[in-house]
Amino acid sequence: MKAAIRSKYGGPDVLSIAQLPIPVPGKNEVLIKVKVATVNRTDCAILTAKPFIMRLFTGLLKPKLPSTGTDFAGIIEAVGKGVSNFATGDRVWGFHDNGLGSHSEYMVLNVRKPIVKMPEGVSFIDAAASAEGSHYALNFLNKVSIHSDHRVLVNGATGAIGSAMVQLLKKDGVYVTATADTDSIDKIKRIGADRVIDYLKEDFTRDHQEYDFILDTVGKSTFEKCRPIMNKKAVYISSELGPNMQNPILALTTKNKDHRVVFPVPTDIPHSMSTMNTLLEAGKFHPLIDRRYRLDDIKEAFNYVESGEKKGNVIIVMD
Ligand SMILES: NC(=O)c1ccc[n+]([C@@H]2O[C@H](COP(=O)([O-])OP(=O)(O)OC[C@H]3O[C@@H](n4cnc5c(N)ncnc54)[C@H](OP(=O)(O)O)[C@@H]3O)[C@@H](O)[C@H]2O)c1
Repeated sequence: MKAAIRSKYGGPDVLSIAQLPIPVPGKNEVLIKVKVATVNRTDCAILTAKPFIMRLFTGLLKPKLPSTGTDFAGIIEAVGKGVSNFATGDRVWGFHDNGLGSHSEYMVLNVRKPIVKMPEGVSFIDAAASAEGSHYALNFLNKVSIHSDHRVLVNGATGAIGSAMVQLLKKDGVYVTATADTDSIDKIKRIGADRVIDYLKEDFTRDHQEYDFILDTVGKSTFEKCRPIMNKKAVYISSELGPNMQNPILALTTKNKDHRVVFPVPTDIPHSMSTMNTLLEAGKFHPLIDRRYRLDDIKEAFNYVESGEKKGNVIIVMD
């Protein structure tokens, strides 16, 4: 089988495609034939070990897992002893933000990892692309209580997190203002945004509208810049630590202030997957898909994702 492997941290050039034996599942493990994976911003952080804190989870001096890849959709090819909840032929998808090694044609996973069966009728591409960005978007939303009468701004609606965020808010009837580049305005309206500000032409922090929640899914703004457009009791949430790691600190110091920062520490992957499974099954979530690559071209995929220009999700198709 082919797998993307590396033995040290670094840029996409540390990756190579190797021919390896198909692994054999041990006790409580399943063998998965990966059909689709994505290359996402978490994969880039794991590949490069940046920020440094990633190393606490992925290996201090060198990567614990030879293969990259945090998400997948595929088919169970074999089950090990003790596995009762999965059977050969099951269509499954999964995600873990410390990496699973899914940039590989086959992989073995312990069934304690977040793996769920795919709903009927959902494609491998849609399942894999509903993992990483959606999990982080859900982890903004589960830290606060947003109702349909709130005014919400999503900064960076073309990202994996932002494009999931717009759809998750719209399913709850929230009026969403989003930012996007000129060429993506129609695309972002099609996924549900009520109003789109062209960030290349307008600075959203000078908007005439005030908001109850500013969800900075690309972490390109700051709490201070957003304050002029924040209503009393409004909340700012960013996907990034912010300049000088200010966002987690501000989350502590603004707790009882009129304008608050909430830091969205991502937790509970199984709950995110179960939520996304329900939405996918009901046809209420359609991940934004960008380029598709073959596993052989994974370096190119990483280079594109690292550019910060992807629109939604970048797909690796194994076959
Ligand atoms: N906290 C966490 O655990 C965690 C996990 C994953 C990711 N992240 C971080 O979250 C951020 C977003 O991740 P993602 O995967 O959603 O990003 P992404 O898919 O790489 O998307 C970036 C998108 O944002 C757009 N963009 C760039 N600058 C913008 C700006 N100033 N205003 C509006 N849109 C802008 C880009 O469009 P253009 O092409 O027009 O520039 C691109 O479409 C990244 O910085 C990532 O490092 C954090």
